[in-house]
Amino acid sequence: MCGICGVVGHRPATPIVFEALRRLEYRGYDSAGIATIAPDGQITRCRAAGKLDNLAAALKAHPLQGTTGIGHTRWATHGAPTTNNAHPHQAGRVAIVHNGIIENFAELKKILEGQGRQFVTETDSEIVAHLVDSYLDQNMTPQQAAAAALKHLEGAYALAMIFEDHDGLMIGARHGAPLAIGYGEGEMFLGSDSLALAPLSRRITYLEDGDWCVLTPQSVEIFDRTDRKVERPIQIAAQTQSQIGKDGYRHFMEKELHEHPVAIGQTLQRVTDPVTRRITLPDFPFNAAELPRATISACGSAYYAGLVGRYWLESLARLPVDIDVASEMRYRAPPQPDQGMALLISQSGETADTLGVLRFLKEAGQKIVSVLNVEHSTMGRESDLVLGMVAGPEISVASTKAFTAQLTVLAALALTFARERGTLDTAAEQELTAALLDLPSRAAEIFSHLEGIRDMARVVAQARDVLYLGRGSCMPIAQEGALKLKEISYIHAEAYAAGELKHGPISLIDQTVPVVAIAPSTILFDKMLSNLQEAKARGGRILAFTDAAGAEKLKDVAEQIVVLPDVDAFVAPILYAIPVQILAYEVALLKGTDVDQPRNLAKSVTVE
Ligand code: F6R
Repeated sequence: MCGICGVVGHRPATPIVFEALRRLEYRGYDSAGIATIAPDGQITRCRAAGKLDNLAAALKAHPLQGTTGIGHTRWATHGAPTTNNAHPHQAGRVAIVHNGIIENFAELKKILEGQGRQFVTETDSEIVAHLVDSYLDQNMTPQQAAAAALKHLEGAYALAMIFEDHDGLMIGARHGAPLAIGYGEGEMFLGSDSLALAPLSRRITYLEDGDWCVLTPQSVEIFDRTDRKVERPIQIAAQTQSQIGKDGYRHFMEKELHEHPVAIGQTLQRVTDPVTRRITLPDFPFNAAELPRATISACGSAYYAGLVGRYWLESLARLPVDIDVASEMRYRAPPQPDQGMALLISQSGETADTLGVLRFLKEAGQKIVSVLNVEHSTMGRESDLVLGMVAGPEISVASTKAFTAQLTVLAALALTFARERGTLDTAAEQELTAALLDLPSRAAEIFSHLEGIRDMARVVAQARDVLYLGRGSCMPIAQEGALKLKEISYIHAEAYAAGELKHGPISLIDQTVPVVAIAPSTILFDKMLSNLQEAKARGGRILAFTDAAGAEKLKDVAEQIVVLPDVDAFVAPILYAIPVQILAYEVALLKGTDVDQPRNLAKSVTVE
């Protein structure tokens, strides 16, 4: 959600910043801009509404010179996505880029307007430039002015600033939004994440909340929220540039869909003892056998993974679970038990709602376990235990392989808890473990069914509304399917527990509303079959994902069937998530939408 970057160095800044913006575009893509310190010491800016290609065209017409520069790719919060509202914002002798929301901007603006300052954008971010410039007016140095301004800001921010007549100086700050420093040879970088910095530097420092930093081509100084100089560790980032290319696929989403088997396999490797082949997780900061309850929270697809996790933890480990989306859980503020566990799930580890609930639950005395793809994220640093999924960078805005990797970790957690709580005998544990370890191969088989999924996509692409039905642990997979379809094809879709159909939504069903059924042969299959028959009797067109046995029973009910590999019911939600996501992708291709960067969305939602 908004990407920021910057460089102080010896090479032309614009191409470096522009390429970093390309890597950050997944965080927001409704406008973009760059500012540099020109050779005469003045700040120069170039901004454009729309995708980065528009900025590239604008830069061609108005090239920016200089070796100190900052850039921004925007996901609008305050103010329409126009060129004028695009960052960097300049006030007098300072230009800034900002990711986050300044919550007290209206009151600060009033004060600064009272001092005769004129605002020219509709954004909350412009306030930061004016505030810093107002301190420069009082003869403060850039460093003093930035430090003074930061004290007034409420809300969330990652900031980068450059200053007129101060070539070779960049100041960064973070509070509630991520910011990393990349160390180069005679040059230093700032970026919202390590992806932005990937080809520039693998030596990275992640700032802590409240930190701010002063960068020159030769030096980095970091200060905490009390302006005390601090040391923060330098880490070696794992990503290489090759991991973040499209590798010949048309979209990152297509590539990432094909990476499901690898993401599941790598994650399993992380959680399996190579000798005993038993699921083995790091030591818990609590006694799992005595855990009274777990609280799960997350957003979007990660929340659906959490719903499957609840199903597994309750059924296998007999652990009571409370679960809610993070934006509700945080303010519902349910009472927490003594010695309870909070389980937060997030691909990015930066989602503001999930981070908020993490802090609430920590405050409420819960031990925090996070399931994360980006392990060194803010959530990672604030957790008692991180269970890493090993999905690799996920660039497509719609989550794919991170979802199945999340499920894989949750399945491993449920098995481990079941063992420690004595709720699963050894034979059953071995059977379920074997089913889990077999999943990468079964997942790879899905890609031989692409034609069947494309046939389904042709039906779905004609529809205005689509229903997704599931039961038990596959109900959240129906929700995931509906979300993915809405997100990237802009077709309205809703998911229902199949048993709920007759309690209302069945009135929606006619020839024009396809019904996508997630129907593995589990103990709930016959109930699902009845529900689908009820839908068909009302003219519904049934499109089913099932296995060989299910296909036999559904052949007179479903118009189209994609027959998936036979798997144990335990792992069915992981396997069935894959074709459901592929269906959404294929529909989006038919609709011609912007698959990797669907309208109005951003990856990593760092505002509430
Ligand atoms: C859907 C999607 C979102 C994310 C949600 C949480 O395709 O990508 O619903 O799952 O925004 O993001 P993370 O997992 O980064 O916390």
